[in-house]
Amino acid sequence: MAQYIMKGGRPLNGEVNVSGAKNAALGILAAAVMTDENVLIENLPDVRDINVMLDAIRELGATIDRIDRNTVRINASTVSGVDVHSENMRRIRASYYLIGALLGKYKRANVPLPGGCAIGARPIDQHLKGFRALGAECVVDGDKLSASAERLTGSHIYLDIVSVGATINIMMAAALAEGRTILENAAKEPHIVDVANFLNSMGASIRGAGTDVIRITGVPKLHGTEYSIIPDQIEAGTFMFASAITRGDIMVRNLIPKHMEAISAKLLEMGCIIWEFDDAIRVVGAQRLRPTNVKTLPYPGFPTDMQPQASTAMSLAKGTSVVVESIFENRFRYLDELARMGGISKVEGSTATITGVEKLKGAQIKACDLRAGAALVMAGLAAEGYTVLSDIEYIQRGYEHFEQKLRNLGAQIALVNSDEEIREFMRNTAD
Ligand code: UD1
Repeated sequence: MAQYIMKGGRPLNGEVNVSGAKNAALGILAAAVMTDENVLIENLPDVRDINVMLDAIRELGATIDRIDRNTVRINASTVSGVDVHSENMRRIRASYYLIGALLGKYKRANVPLPGGCAIGARPIDQHLKGFRALGAECVVDGDKLSASAERLTGSHIYLDIVSVGATINIMMAAALAEGRTILENAAKEPHIVDVANFLNSMGASIRGAGTDVIRITGVPKLHGTEYSIIPDQIEAGTFMFASAITRGDIMVRNLIPKHMEAISAKLLEMGCIIWEFDDAIRVVGAQRLRPTNVKTLPYPGFPTDMQPQASTAMSLAKGTSVVVESIFENRFRYLDELARMGGISKVEGSTATITGVEKLKGAQIKACDLRAGAALVMAGLAAEGYTVLSDIEYIQRGYEHFEQKLRNLGAQIALVNSDEEIREFMRNTAD
């Protein structure tokens, strides 16, 4: 069983390059099956969720040519069915993107219902509302969803909840519907714009992505394209917070500063120094962070996927901070793990009150989901002594070369598979 072992207490210093955005890539890979022509995708992050999605597309019959770790060519002219079987698909939330993509192109899709991180109930009613408005019949049978339509027709859809997944999914199906779709109360996250740009590069007609009204004029078919995925906003934010948490000095390269505004603003409030460049941000951590308050909101608000990293920083701030999680109902479980390290917090419903401590102490802890896992690594790197983190498969789902990137910044971290390897790490890092 793979675990991370860390010896904390060293500020992280240096430069790190941000990989392609996992959540954009998941939508884009699904959308790549919507044409029979070649699609070349660059800046693909080499992480587990992406490889699961590629396997599912391969199982559908598409030809996948992995040119290198971060580049893939997909040709879906060989797709032979619309049944997604892969058991793995249940493990990733974004399996639902294949519904929109297959329904758009083939007017039929049979897909296992999504899994993903256990951070709440995460229904897909808004996705179904959209597909039904376009004329599809959607049947949930056990843990499988079947969607089919004689024809898809553009419609006026108002989302009751701002949903990233529903926005992308409906956009994909509507791209190949007949006529015009207006999607209101759409989510505005950077990866929605990226999937829209990708579809437009295939000949779709999608306007307004990035605002809360998206207008889609259906086209009869899509063509091949070459596309490079945007940098991962959440990975970038994780390294920015890593600098704050370890009192380091990190230049985070290959990001889009505009996407980072909520995160930069919060770090400034906490006392960090920030330099913004065209495609990089340098964060210098404060000697002792100031407390702050965070409420997670859809973009451009503070991302829920950065909430655990922010709470970890608050755990080390001088004073009391308050975090309100307004997107997912079950996203504070990692605070129990931080408590094992000496963190002090109290959770009431969707609010966590965090009292900063001077130092965290190394402990045996476990990752409870992807972003919480990354946040606990940050905690381990700041803590006194050794931390062993289990269940790190969550982290491998979404962070490319995580421990290597951290090691390049001076972190003492290793992936270990046995007690012997843990002892060896301790011998090698003994003072
Ligand atoms: C996506 C991201 C995830 C991120 C989240 C919010 C991917 C693969 N995942 O997840 O990392 O944390 O956006 O930024 O891109 N909801 C409903 N009904 C629906 C759909 C959503 O009630 O049909 C609710 C959800 O339970 C949640 C909220 O709406 O409370 C937002 O969810 P949504 O934006 O859809 O998140 P995901 O697309 O699942």
